[in-house]
Amino acid sequence: MASLLLIQTYGWILEAGEGVVAKVEFENVYKSFPARQSKKDKAAQAQLDNTKQSSRVSVLRRINLSIEDGEFMVLVGPSGCGKSTLLRLIAGLEELTGGNIRVGDRLINQLPPKARDIAMVFQSYALYPHLTVYNNLAFGLRRMSSKQEVSVDRVETSRLPQWADRILAAATRSLPKPLRHKPEQEQEIEARIQTVAEMLQIDHLLNRLPKELSGGQKQRVALGRAIARNPQVFLMDEPLSNLDAKLRAETRTQIVSLQRQLGTTTIYVTHDQVEAMTMGQRIAVMAEGEIQQVGAPLELYNRPANRFVAGFIGSPPMNFIPVVVQAPALVLHEQFRFTLPDGWAGAVASHDRGDLLLGIRPEHLQLSVAATKNLPMRVEQVEALGSETFVVGKLLGTEVVLQARVEADKPVAVGDEVWLSMRLEKLHLFDPATGLAIMPED
Ligand SMILES: Nc1ncnc2c1ncn2[C@@H]1O[C@H](COP(=O)(O)OP(=O)(O)OP(=O)(O)O)[C@@H](O)[C@H]1O
Ligand SMILES: [Mg+2]
Repeated sequence: MASLLLIQTYGWILEAGEGVVAKVEFENVYKSFPARQSKKDKAAQAQLDNTKQSSRVSVLRRINLSIEDGEFMVLVGPSGCGKSTLLRLIAGLEELTGGNIRVGDRLINQLPPKARDIAMVFQSYALYPHLTVYNNLAFGLRRMSSKQEVSVDRVETSRLPQWADRILAAATRSLPKPLRHKPEQEQEIEARIQTVAEMLQIDHLLNRLPKELSGGQKQRVALGRAIARNPQVFLMDEPLSNLDAKLRAETRTQIVSLQRQLGTTTIYVTHDQVEAMTMGQRIAVMAEGEIQQVGAPLELYNRPANRFVAGFIGSPPMNFIPVVVQAPALVLHEQFRFTLPDGWAGAVASHDRGDLLLGIRPEHLQLSVAATKNLPMRVEQVEALGSETFVVGKLLGTEVVLQARVEADKPVAVGDEVWLSMRLEKLHLFDPATGLAIMPED
């Protein structure tokens, strides 16, 4: 709460420059890296052909995404899907293979990183170990200030000429601290650091070295360094993954409220779907270098576009069961059969007698009575959390694993044979060949 008040009080210092619209757009972005080859492979390759194309590994393909000004966009996906590479392309730490990236109305493809007005926070904090927290925060600002004004508000009439300011500072450097002249730029940097440090509650740590900080404190310093620069865009690459669970949840909330207050366009990378769901205004789900779906958290949860998104968003993950559909709306399995709710008939018409994949989330299965429309399951594992119980087992007579989230007070034991009813309005169907969702009419 205290930090929120501070942001409100000091927010003016950190306001983005007037009229800056930091929309971020990816247009058909491609990225490939040269494939690593052994000498023998290289020789063989050279003999076969000398096209460059064949010796490159494609890491990002057809990335088209538009992030609104001030939006908090989360990129989520499994390890190796290209999330960090995409961030590094925006920051200018990697070169594009194809396509365009725009920030506001500027095409930034060719701009050096320093000219992009973007601040990145890494998982590893990347603090300078030999500099105090204060100097870590000041480092980027000093570099910036040699080129541009740091402060938004600066009263022109009170300024010494820059040369006089510098000479005075040099001449008084050996005097006791209170008598030294501080260049105006340094005074502004100090004010900004103080504001940011109070905001993140690290003001009591300014004189410490990074090695004297806890993981959570280091991460706040890394965030502070990005915020102090007041960039057009924040890029955050798994900034919380080195923190323990409690601190991660706290810092998560703090980052979200800071971002809402500052209104700075933010792209946040994580492989944790809970983090994605709780932080993102919108989420882009990535897999194997491609964007699978972009949408608000609940949109992805309720209407996943394909099997990958359905299995990735939601915890524990969705259950998938191979079934056969029979027009107009019958779903058949050797263990159960039921009629799809209204709205599905049109959608499944073209799949008559075809194989489909039924998807149902653990929270949409309930312990129930023996009935042909219910799923019989042999219980193999029971996790009682107090508030709820997770029951895991196999669909009877099959190798299909089912997981159900059931009420805590229902007695279930390993080895039991139970029946699960589905909330039919919550089920999903997928084409097993393409993985694409089949959507009912609303
Ligand atoms: N410099 C490089 N040279 C060759 N291949 C690279 C390079 N950098 C990344 N890759 C490859 O690109 C793919 C995407 O890597 P990236 O670091 O973007 O994944 P990520 O989604 O951030 O994964 P993680 O969640 O593990 O951080 C990986 O297969 C990786 O091996
Ligand atoms: Mg990464």
